[in-house]
Amino acid sequence: MRVAIVGSGYVGLVSGACLADFGHDITCIDRDEHRIAELRSGLVPIYEPGLAELIAANVAEGRLRFDTRLDQAVAAADIVVIAVGTPASDNDEADLSSVHAAAKSIGLALDGFTLVVTKSTVPVGTGDAVASAIHAARPDAVFDVVSNPEFLREGAAIKDFCQPERIVVGAETERARALMSELYRPLTQRGTALFMTTRRSAELLKYAANAFLAMKISFINEMADLCEKAGGDIADVARGIGLDSRIGPKFLEAGPGYGGSCFPKDTRALAAMGRRYEAPQRLVEATIAVNAERFTRMARRIVEACGGSVEGRRIALLGLTFKPGTDDMRESPALGIAEALIRAGARISAYDPQAAAGLAGLALSEDAYAAATGADCLVLATEWREFRALDMARIRDIMAQPVIVDLRNLFDARTMRALGFEYRGIGRPALDVDTPSMRAAE
Ligand code: UDX
Repeated sequence: MRVAIVGSGYVGLVSGACLADFGHDITCIDRDEHRIAELRSGLVPIYEPGLAELIAANVAEGRLRFDTRLDQAVAAADIVVIAVGTPASDNDEADLSSVHAAAKSIGLALDGFTLVVTKSTVPVGTGDAVASAIHAARPDAVFDVVSNPEFLREGAAIKDFCQPERIVVGAETERARALMSELYRPLTQRGTALFMTTRRSAELLKYAANAFLAMKISFINEMADLCEKAGGDIADVARGIGLDSRIGPKFLEAGPGYGGSCFPKDTRALAAMGRRYEAPQRLVEATIAVNAERFTRMARRIVEACGGSVEGRRIALLGLTFKPGTDDMRESPALGIAEALIRAGARISAYDPQAAAGLAGLALSEDAYAAATGADCLVLATEWREFRALDMARIRDIMAQPVIVDLRNLFDARTMRALGFEYRGIGRPALDVDTPSMRAAE
């Protein structure tokens, strides 16, 4: 099938590369000339494992190309995918100006029956708005609009696209459903479920999925607070409830809160949708509030570990990205926490395997040891695997004070304490904090 993808950002490029790899003929379009020039010269502007290789292979096979001109590719296409950005606007609702502009350009360019597929995360009713915009641009256009939301995780996007647990298709006509089945045949042949529903349900369920996952995280984070105060271990509580298949074991890792480009934005947009339709999403509102408060709560924990003040103290911060396996720092808990610590007078030296730049007032070190040298407290904010391999005895010796606040429970508490660290994790009883000072008191 011939497919034109409008918007060569994260979702557009991953979808384009994977659909080309399925054997389709793909043109990825973007109005950013610099971006298209880079892509044509083999440079991939985002960090996603495996993406550059997949793009190169499919470009070489002649199934994938890049263009700034939309008209030709859209006119020739059986399917046009809208994968433009939908940033949050001031009132938390998604800003749809790029979607509307894309719909208009597509309307003006399409030729013969064309299926228009929205992959951007868009509020309920956007499919109707896209159809109206196309119709307004070209009253004689013959087309259908489908919602086909993506559930890609950064760092695992290729796998998520090529081995999804489900593909959601919100379509209103048989013709649209048939074309979508053909587009995804390489996956459905291998047994992937194609979940067919209406356009509005598909638009809503994308937000519902992200909000539900975010809610699980805020739930387990508050439960971790209770474990600390009441004397339980969050890892056991999570494991124990996760054994019930109705709950499931995933997304129950307590930590410094969720970040990234999706959960924060999508939960806020869903809450705004609830307000707009007078169907308040109170659990989503609470999820957002718990997560927002989490960053300051974590900063307070670090201040406590430093004896009540971080004024003039040096904090080594390991991990800046919102999760491992990405260079993305959008809404990263690490940055939120760092900001609060800097405001409280701390000096921060940070290390991250991928993050290119940090915050004003935050010095980037070239490795974890450089960050830890002379530090009064080491904070682990993102669970990069390489941090597990650190020589912690060396870290202890180069720090000014052997204090660790492990916001991801990456290190083993017993091992760290045996090494002489004052160690605090997440969701473990405070009484268990077997600190050097407590030992001295005994
Ligand atoms: C998410 C969804 O998983 C994906 O389906 C959707 O399409 C886009 O949003 P992503 O933002 O890449 O993907 O990251 P994800 O791996 O889901 O993690 C999101 C945040 O939640 C991270 O900050 C992570 O550290 C945090 N998290 C996740 C937890 O704190 N605990 C968990 O148990 C799981």
